[in-house]
Amino acid sequence: MTKVAVSGAAGRMGATVCEAVEAADGLELTGRADPSLGVALADVLGEAEVVVDFSIPDTALANVKECLAAGVHVVVGTTGFDLAAAKAAAEESTANCFVAPNFAIGAVLMMRFATEASRIMAKAEIIELHHDRKLDAPSGTAARTAELMQGDVPIHSVRLPGLVAHQEVILGDVGQTLTIRHDSTDRTSFMPGVLLAVRRVGTLPSSPVVGLEALLFDDA
Ligand SMILES: NC(=O)c1ccc[n+]([C@@H]2O[C@H](COP(=O)([O-])OP(=O)(O)OC[C@H]3O[C@@H](n4cnc5c(N)ncnc54)[C@H](O)[C@@H]3O)[C@@H](O)[C@H]2O)c1
Repeated sequence: MTKVAVSGAAGRMGATVCEAVEAADGLELTGRADPSLGVALADVLGEAEVVVDFSIPDTALANVKECLAAGVHVVVGTTGFDLAAAKAAAEESTANCFVAPNFAIGAVLMMRFATEASRIMAKAEIIELHHDRKLDAPSGTAARTAELMQGDVPIHSVRLPGLVAHQEVILGDVGQTLTIRHDSTDRTSFMPGVLLAVRRVGTLPSSPVVGLEALLFDDA
């Protein structure tokens, strides 16, 4: 059994990850860290082999560094933090770090298709739409998509109640547009990807690894 602790365990994503880990074969939930539960990350690190962090942008980097310094592998879903600083910390640690701005398979495919289309079509823009309690804008998924695509890709952010996580990439060329859209209508959409990363983080060939595509496609 792989021992897994969740950081941000009381949050929308963290609570869903706790349920998924508890239901998964070969994984054991050993800790729930969250200030709102009165449990610090340090309190759960001793027992965990892997920490999954879905916390907040302001604290994610410190959490990643704390896990890596303790020799505990870390899977990071939090967005809007300084990834370059996390890379430096990961390179110095014996433990591994896996970061994905989006753990939903459909979103990974959307990014892949958009990347491919951007090599051919003239221009593109991204509209990302999320629930109104999301702290960061643009979303990590949109920023990553734009980074992967060719050319300068503007991002528009929409925050409204009723939304979960959605993104449209609109590509334009002479007399035509192509729209690639992904919708996460429920947070369970992210769980197969999170569990895959938890199972694989200990055996990554290098660290950090960014993007679920690295675990899914041979050519990524
Ligand atoms: N990678 C993905 O696939 C994906 C999908 C959805 C959301 N997200 C990201 O996950 C993060 C969490 O989203 P959410 O909707 O669950 O937010 P949320 O606000 O519901 O939960 C965040 C939790 O983090 C806790 N927290 C605050 N400080 C902390 C600390 N120092 N250590 C541990 N926990 C701390 C808060 O108390 C809260 O319970 C966001 O950055 C969001 O963008 C990523």
